[in-house]
Amino acid sequence: MDARLHAGFSQLLRAHRERCVRQHRVNRATLAAVTCAHVWAELASEEGEGLFTIESSAITFGRGAIREVGQVLRGACPDGRRVALFTDRVVGQLPIVEAARAALAASGFDVASFDAAAIEPTDASFLAAAAFAKDGAFDAYVSVGGGSVIDTCKAASLYATYPADFLTYVNAPVGGGAPVPGPLPPHVACPTTSGTGSELTGIAVCDVLALHAKTGIASRRLRPAAAIVDPDATDTLPAGVVAASGFDVLCHALESYTARPHRTRARASGASERPMSQGRNAWSDVGSREALRLAGAFLVRAVRDAADREARESMMWAATLAGVAFGNAGVHVPHAMAYAVAGLGHGFHMPGYPEGAPLVPHGVSVVVGAPAAFRFTASACPERHLQAAGLLGAETRGAAGADAGDVLARALSGLMRAASVPPDLAAIGFGEEHVPALVAGTAVQRRLLDNAPCRVERPDLDRVFRAALHAEGAR
Ligand SMILES: [Fe+2]
Repeated sequence: MDARLHAGFSQLLRAHRERCVRQHRVNRATLAAVTCAHVWAELASEEGEGLFTIESSAITFGRGAIREVGQVLRGACPDGRRVALFTDRVVGQLPIVEAARAALAASGFDVASFDAAAIEPTDASFLAAAAFAKDGAFDAYVSVGGGSVIDTCKAASLYATYPADFLTYVNAPVGGGAPVPGPLPPHVACPTTSGTGSELTGIAVCDVLALHAKTGIASRRLRPAAAIVDPDATDTLPAGVVAASGFDVLCHALESYTARPHRTRARASGASERPMSQGRNAWSDVGSREALRLAGAFLVRAVRDAADREARESMMWAATLAGVAFGNAGVHVPHAMAYAVAGLGHGFHMPGYPEGAPLVPHGVSVVVGAPAAFRFTASACPERHLQAAGLLGAETRGAAGADAGDVLARALSGLMRAASVPPDLAAIGFGEEHVPALVAGTAVQRRLLDNAPCRVERPDLDRVFRAALHAEGAR
């Protein structure tokens, strides 16, 4: 926040404090620590960013869409010949990869495959993929897999095209946060899970092993040119993968819907200066609401019954809507917490994921902290937290603004129980002794924390993590 905006904020906060105490039954100590929705609204009208920009990969959606991947890539890369096809060893055995290969060959491409993309990638696995990409001197890229595969492809293309020390492009303060120097070769992303939305965003997430930190690279230049979203890919997914990725979708929508309003940001000095995580806006609200409604209706069904094609297809559509929403609004506290949770993983193994190394799937690392996080953010925009709970299927009649956090947290916990997802941090191996490290790992995720609807400081994170250790009624 710049100085002028901060001065305006402080003045308005003082002017509204007494009114808010009366209207929202918030005590003064709480009010002093949060940013009031009234203040955001009035500040926005005077000083804030009046514009928002919506960017997305071109989207082809529907069963059988993978057959068009060659034509779509040819449209993006008219003269290209050599294509790198990124996948992982599990997805690489599935018919969708063979279908992609055949479609690319039919459009005149020579395809070289890389099937060693790591699940929950690291700096080391990103760099191994980049070495393959550099050796191949490819004209274009195709990724077929979950978010880890798509992120690996983005990073491989970046480091092969603009070689640099790994931390150069990684988000500050963990890395240097340097801008991507120029355009990247065309990338067509084909998701096989209904979750991350990576096919639509300019974000690539990884674990920096030496720092025990989960972080990422964010640049609109990383956004794939096109996404081929084929729900056939989800028919064979194990229940645990559908559950973890489904809660990632749900949290993308919830966090976008409750992010700070874009108008509360300082006005961008030009189009290219406007951040991708620009805050909630009229467009992201539309996608977020529908994604929440779909998740409320279909997530548990999609987990429980692999033959429920309507549910699995609906979750794929929810992932697409939420992907565009959060790609242009941004996520906040639960995703910031997830970086620390996943980076410090404590020997948990989610059924449905490959045996071997301990792994907290991204969606699980996000949602275990979400009930406590939304209890904390609810006072900043209680009406949105209540609306979200209602869209997820909760009863909200008669609920007051002061109840919003509880109502939404209980709705989330109920869905987590129904989908057999770990209910809290204790269930994935964390205890009180881990809280300081979790807070430290989250506090550095400023890009995300600054997108919350209220100020988030270390003492707030400490309280939220302690509350997230044991879900109400979990055991
Ligand atoms: Fe996510």
